[in-house]
Amino acid sequence: MKLGRLNHIGVATPSIADSIVFYRDVMGATKIHAPFDLPDQGVKVCFVDTPGPNHSSDGALNGTQIELIEPLPGNASIAAFLEKNPAGGQHHVCYEVPDIHAAKAEFEGMGKRVLGEPRIGAHGTLIFFVHPKDMGGVLTEIMEVPAH
Ligand code: CO
Repeated sequence: MKLGRLNHIGVATPSIADSIVFYRDVMGATKIHAPFDLPDQGVKVCFVDTPGPNHSSDGALNGTQIELIEPLPGNASIAAFLEKNPAGGQHHVCYEVPDIHAAKAEFEGMGKRVLGEPRIGAHGTLIFFVHPKDMGGVLTEIMEVPAH
C-alpha cells in the first residue's frame, strides 16, 4: 500500500444542520458544501473544506475535508455509533489511492478485512472500507483519487 493524500475525516453527527453552525461559527469554516443524501450508503453527507496550500479555483485541491455524516432512516451502523456517542464523533479516515482495485488486492493480500466490494462514494469515485480491527482501531476508507 502506497499511502496517498488524506482526503477527509468522517465525523458522525446527529444533526448536520447543527454541525454546520459549529464548523462555521466555532471553527471559522468558510467553505461548507450543500448537504446531500447518499441513499446507497444510508447517509446524508456534508463536506466542510479546510484551507490548504494547493488551493485551486475549482476547489479540487483544497486542504483536507471534514465529512459530516448523519444517518438516514434505516441506517443501523451509524445509528449504533450515535447511540454510543450521542454528541457524534470521529467515525473514519479516508485516504486516496490511484487504483482502487489494486489497493483492495493489496489489503486483502495482507489479511485485512475489506468490507464489501468497491462502490461509488460521496465524491463520485469508487471507495471501500477496511475493518477497524485490522487497522489499529481506525475504520479506514480508501477512495480512488478524483479526476481533476
Ligand atoms: Co468518508
